[in-house]
Amino acid sequence: MTLITTTIHDVSGHVGSAVRIGCWLHRKRSSGKIQFLQLRDGTGFIQGVLVKSEVEEAAWTAADRLTQESSLYVTGVVREDPRSPSGYELNVTGIDVIHVSEEYPITPKEHGVDFLMDHRHLWLRTPRQRAVMVVRAAIVRAIRQFFDARGFTQVDAPILTPTSAEGTTNLFHTKYFDEDAFLTQSGQLYMEAAAMALGRVYSFGPTFRAEKSKTRRHLIEFWMIEPEMAFVDHEENLRVQEQFVAHIVQSVISECKQELAVLERDVAKLEKITAPFPRITYDEAVKFLNGNGFPEFQWGEDFGAPHETAIAESYNKPVFITHYPTELKAFYMKPDPVRPEVVLCADLIAPEGYGEIIGGSQRIDDPGLMEERFREHKLPMDAYRWYLDLRKYGSVPHSGFGLGLERTVAWLCGLDHVRETIPFPRLLYRLYP
Ligand code: 4AD
Ligand code: MG
Repeated sequence: MTLITTTIHDVSGHVGSAVRIGCWLHRKRSSGKIQFLQLRDGTGFIQGVLVKSEVEEAAWTAADRLTQESSLYVTGVVREDPRSPSGYELNVTGIDVIHVSEEYPITPKEHGVDFLMDHRHLWLRTPRQRAVMVVRAAIVRAIRQFFDARGFTQVDAPILTPTSAEGTTNLFHTKYFDEDAFLTQSGQLYMEAAAMALGRVYSFGPTFRAEKSKTRRHLIEFWMIEPEMAFVDHEENLRVQEQFVAHIVQSVISECKQELAVLERDVAKLEKITAPFPRITYDEAVKFLNGNGFPEFQWGEDFGAPHETAIAESYNKPVFITHYPTELKAFYMKPDPVRPEVVLCADLIAPEGYGEIIGGSQRIDDPGLMEERFREHKLPMDAYRWYLDLRKYGSVPHSGFGLGLERTVAWLCGLDHVRETIPFPRLLYRLYP
């Protein structure tokens, strides 16, 4: 038989054939007469079976030498096996050991989170972490598909910036030769410029928040998708968001069946995520909270995680909370013309306690009001001259939003902490590995 070089993912096309696969030993079980090798190659997992009486001695002794995470080329014949999770098994005929792994630190026993985080570079190899990374990649694909199919142009925002975009309290400061610079908190302001040039745009990149918060929803470095749309008002902004989020969820359900099963995600809950999404105003949310466990909550206060969770519990879809107090929100949000103490904005709160996944708004398009806001927020007018120019040269109504990738991954994978949603998380007190 000629050998076909393939991957675990692709064995389905080679049932009955002899194949060769580069892989690692995940786990091993042996009865003395039969060895069961759990093999992984990054594309999936498959069980390889060696029967002592049926294989050459060299293959048997090679299998004996394999320790956890040793690397090898395995050859064998693909068999369909309905009992195995992948549906296939390999009748192993030969083993070429590439490298015998030293004692592997992550064993089948339970490890503490700090230990696993210290070994994140190895932790990524486990089935659960692999599944999370595959879902993350599927979400990224779905995000791009959605906007690319709707005439948006992808525009990249700078990472090093001279100013803040989302308040000055959580900026990462650095030197830019002799000048001060900051790592970007959001590409939005640049996307507004890009929308005036290209109509509908989105950026997708890393953003940074020097927040001393140690919650299960906060990363110091996270990825954000930020669409910005000229001639789009608050209402249309929300319609785009609900279509967008429903598209992501439905894409992941159809593309990541195996991974969602590994993660033991309740897919029935995700299947309900279709547009439109419910909406409530900030005022209504406050009333709701006052009647449901938070009698002291005052109009003008910001919601924390427990408030968001309480509100989200009433719905089985994400819920928009709209029209927040102007005082609470960023300087660029457009006040409601009939009620300027609130802004034309919305946060989208995911169900099942996963919290805010989107923040968005219509933007101020009046140059006078924008200048006033810079003064109120004590922002250096000079640094924002270019941003004011957008209001001076053919200003138009425009809106946009930012979706946090990692919180979306946490929600769709059903993870209780964002540290597992990104390959190498940057957290308060963690920069390694
Ligand atoms: O609500 P935020 O701060 O909004 C903005 O940055 C706007 N400029 C977006 C825009 O309109 N273009 O952040 C948007 C989203 C949040 O809803 C959340 O999902 C995520 O980014 N996010 C974080 N994710 C992880 N860790 C953090 N520290 C995050 N901060 C925000
Ligand atoms: Mg927000």
